[in-house]
Amino acid sequence: HIHSDSNDNDIPLEMMNEVEMENKRMLKKQRKRKANWSDDVLVSSFPKSGTTWVVEIVDEILRRGIEPDNESPTYLRAKMLELGPPAISKSVIDENNDENLMKGEKRVFKTHLAYTSLPSDIRSGQSNIRLIYIVRNVKDNLVSFYHFCRMNELYGLFKGSFSDFYDLWLNGQTPHGDWFEHVKGYLENSVNNENILIISYEELLESTFEMIGKISTFLNINLEDKVVKSIVEKTNIENMRQNKRTNRLEVKAYRQDISQFFRKGIAGDWKNWLNEEQSQRIDRLFEEKLPTDIRILLNKL
Ligand code: A3P
Repeated sequence: HIHSDSNDNDIPLEMMNEVEMENKRMLKKQRKRKANWSDDVLVSSFPKSGTTWVVEIVDEILRRGIEPDNESPTYLRAKMLELGPPAISKSVIDENNDENLMKGEKRVFKTHLAYTSLPSDIRSGQSNIRLIYIVRNVKDNLVSFYHFCRMNELYGLFKGSFSDFYDLWLNGQTPHGDWFEHVKGYLENSVNNENILIISYEELLESTFEMIGKISTFLNINLEDKVVKSIVEKTNIENMRQNKRTNRLEVKAYRQDISQFFRKGIAGDWKNWLNEEQSQRIDRLFEEKLPTDIRILLNKL
């Protein structure tokens, strides 16, 4: 008779089928081993492309939908590469010496760095790190970024109008610089690179179940449909808004009284913000700044 381990507070082993048992075994094995950067997952994006959502999905996939072994908010475990102390350092990458990280597991990191600024072992292919880049409709990304700059003290609580922001953004004078360069850098390097998966916010919204399946396949993790379904549910915007582990209400720099971190979570909100001229100007930039093959890739997403 097989009993579940006393550390496991979910389904008893005898009620599990093959896949679940295998997943559980793997997770245990992973928790025992030393973390290795090369096995990790890096989620990258231009800010406000849906990073938090994808990080949460990846975190759920790595846990096979099983509840985490500690209560730390996901953003403390999914370190941002470019943040200074107390975020990332070589020792955090090399070892599991951070109490927020789940012991020995594959870890998920995030970044908004440009492709050219990524650690060299990723760019050279020396590391097997799995990189997921999320790209969002440029106009929705801009609108979401405007609201984020209004509410984020780290960006100085932008007080201007949307038009003011638009002009600055167009000149690459808002944080993280030029959107087109960011997207181009990742997309051109994703071609023939099996360590990079490009996904779009829009396809994730439209086909969440299929996309979670695609991400888990990319991470070589085989999940049962019912686990994928539970991840769809747990990571929907309303649940992430309610969940203490994900809602970031305790992040002091985020003034959620000005604008919610989980603001709307829809496609096409740009139509409420950009006038015809502003919209057409971005359409022209799209043609001018992105090579044809990159535009084709984007259109396929
Ligand atoms: P909006 O401002 O358009 O609502 P990031 O995580 O990169 O900062 O991206 C934030 C954007 O993703 C916000 O867009 C936010 O509402 C949206 N988002 C976050 N979680 C989401 C979820 N679970 N489902 C759909 N959209 C989500």
